[in-house]
Amino acid sequence: MLWLLLLQVLASSLWVGHSEVMTSFQHCPQFFYEGTSPSDALNPQNPAWICQCYNSSYHYATLYDRDRRIPVYSAYIYEPISERIHDLSWYLEPQLIGDNDLKDMETELVLVEYYNFTLDQIKASQAVLEDYNQLLGLERGYLNPSGHHDSRDSRKATFTLTNVVPQDSSLYIGQWKHYEFTRMPEKSKGCTTTYVITGAVPGNTYVAQGRINRPSHIWTAACCLVGTHPTKAWGAIAENDHDQIRTLSLGELEARLTEIYEWETVTLFSKACPRK
Ligand SMILES: *[C@@H]1O[C@H](CO)[C@@H](O)[C@H](O)[C@H]1NC(C)=O
Ligand SMILES: *[C@@H]1O[C@H](CO)[C@@H](O)[C@H](O)[C@H]1NC(C)=O
Repeated sequence: MLWLLLLQVLASSLWVGHSEVMTSFQHCPQFFYEGTSPSDALNPQNPAWICQCYNSSYHYATLYDRDRRIPVYSAYIYEPISERIHDLSWYLEPQLIGDNDLKDMETELVLVEYYNFTLDQIKASQAVLEDYNQLLGLERGYLNPSGHHDSRDSRKATFTLTNVVPQDSSLYIGQWKHYEFTRMPEKSKGCTTTYVITGAVPGNTYVAQGRINRPSHIWTAACCLVGTHPTKAWGAIAENDHDQIRTLSLGELEARLTEIYEWETVTLFSKACPRK
């Protein structure tokens, strides 16, 4: 009897493994220090675990909220360059459209003209270009910015709407940009590997005719390894309606997020990353 049960469990897990619906970051644990992703407290009701694939390889990981049509967080390894690129191609995520085997992100044009998806099918569980084209006082705020990557493909892979939230314009060009491109290089000096997780807390308001949630806060956290040892960590958080950012310890950021997420314990990194 036990064997029969085991066989059944095995068969059903094989079946799940065969379909393309992911329930964890099983194909891209490398973007999380020690393979540890943030605690479930952050999970929305209808999540999608996306291993961000461009040109047939994975570049970072995103937990996506299909109902609010914004990412919860993107996780990546910091590999800065000084130059910034502005790409004209924006990508969408085929895995959010339901039954298909497409792994690479694709442009809206390719999804519609080549793969024959209708715009309505695509729009059902993700943001599309038109959603972001008429925002007032808000920018496409990248959770994982292209300037934090040194390879062409990794930079291109950040231009997907599953990596973007509506961000207050003054914050976007002000202190958030300053943190990303001035504070980050300073803070990560001497780190061999820096793991980063950047996220958005869902807010109470929506934009784009009610399709896209406007986050209340945007936060970021980093864990720095010297050699293979985590030696320091830090965080930052900003309210998404004015140009101010607060830097804090990883422990303080987790405590603040725990409060915001109504006291469900939020942990962002493996226990080994220093909290103070
Ligand atoms: C795709 O990746 C391959 C192997 O890494 C590389 O040689 C090629 O230039 C890439 N193609 C594009 C279009 O970026
Ligand atoms: C899309 O539709 C066209 C015309 O019906 C067809 O020729 C083509 O094979 C379809 N493409 C895919 C990827 O199914």
